[in-house]
Amino acid sequence: HSADAQRTDLMTITRFVLNEQSKYPESRGDFTILLSHIVLGCKFVCSAVNKAGLAKLIGLAGETNVQGEEQKKLDVLSNEVFCKALISSGRTSILVSEEDEDAIFVQPSLRGKYCVVFDPLDGSSNIDCGVSIGTIFGIYMMNDNHEPIIEDVLQPGKNMLAAGYCMYGSSCTFVITTGSGVNGFTLDPSLGEFILTHPDIKIPKKGKIYSVNEGNAKNWDGPTASYVEKCKFPTDGSPAKSLRYIGSMVADVHRTLLYGGTFLYPADKKSPNGKLRVLYEVFPMSFLMEQAGGQAFTGKERALDLVPTKLHERSPIFLGSYDDIEEIKALYAAEE
Ligand code: AHG
Ligand code: MN
Ligand code: MN
Ligand code: MN
Repeated sequence: HSADAQRTDLMTITRFVLNEQSKYPESRGDFTILLSHIVLGCKFVCSAVNKAGLAKLIGLAGETNVQGEEQKKLDVLSNEVFCKALISSGRTSILVSEEDEDAIFVQPSLRGKYCVVFDPLDGSSNIDCGVSIGTIFGIYMMNDNHEPIIEDVLQPGKNMLAAGYCMYGSSCTFVITTGSGVNGFTLDPSLGEFILTHPDIKIPKKGKIYSVNEGNAKNWDGPTASYVEKCKFPTDGSPAKSLRYIGSMVADVHRTLLYGGTFLYPADKKSPNGKLRVLYEVFPMSFLMEQAGGQAFTGKERALDLVPTKLHERSPIFLGSYDDIEEIKALYAAEE
């Protein structure tokens, strides 16, 4: 009986969020409405990614973004879809996207109480070869009801109300935290619904995998170099770790969340702040890691304590299993 009950008692993401929201009697469903628009964007991008090869969506859009990166057609398409979905939700006032140099201030008639920071398509370099890519988002509450200003979005990660990602891989997986744990949903294409498949995700305390672009090794600082050395040549008789690096942050973080271990994008001599962007890559993934029992460290401080001063600011990031990140923190502390 229970198997049948399980199969017919579909826990969709909307139902899940409504359950969550019932804990806040005063809430008026604004967050649920906002989330349903983010989910709509993800469903659209999922279907576009799945047929990209067929629908001539592969290749460059012929523009470059504020990061100086050549925008892919899917970068531009995903960005437009999310901007339109978020604005039409009527629940946002400021949007920050990796693909737009300036923040988007929503027109007064459609303003809401949330700011959304997002990377509409993460892992763009992997689009043309069909390797997993994703979308990353974070949600802040507007500071208060003054005319929206850019400072309203330059908040430390610890102020985020919610964060998550959608991974467009062999299946379409949506992972989200609203501050009380992490839950994963898988898109059932026959229903067009995200169904709860990974309830209450907890990252293993220690892992056997490290994930970093070894191609940058010559530019690493001391503590990063010694951590990676220890992964490859352990001195305590433990077995060497495995290296897994996909090059899409969403895919590397999703594997780290489920299997354990560490994901690093360290500073290096060429890029002293690393490569990953604080607002829409570092903060959402750090929030998820902490909510799953892991840690996220910048080399200097807890990642969520960082206070950004610019929209597209970057930071080094070391995130993953609690005990593994403790080792990295000790190496950086010893260097001080
Ligand atoms: P994006 O495609 O949104 O610009 O992000 C790419 C990022 C991230 O997904 C990944 O972890 C990292 O770039 C890989 O960088 P390297 O190719 O330098 O390793
Ligand atoms: Mn990019
Ligand atoms: Mn990205
Ligand atoms: Mn991107």
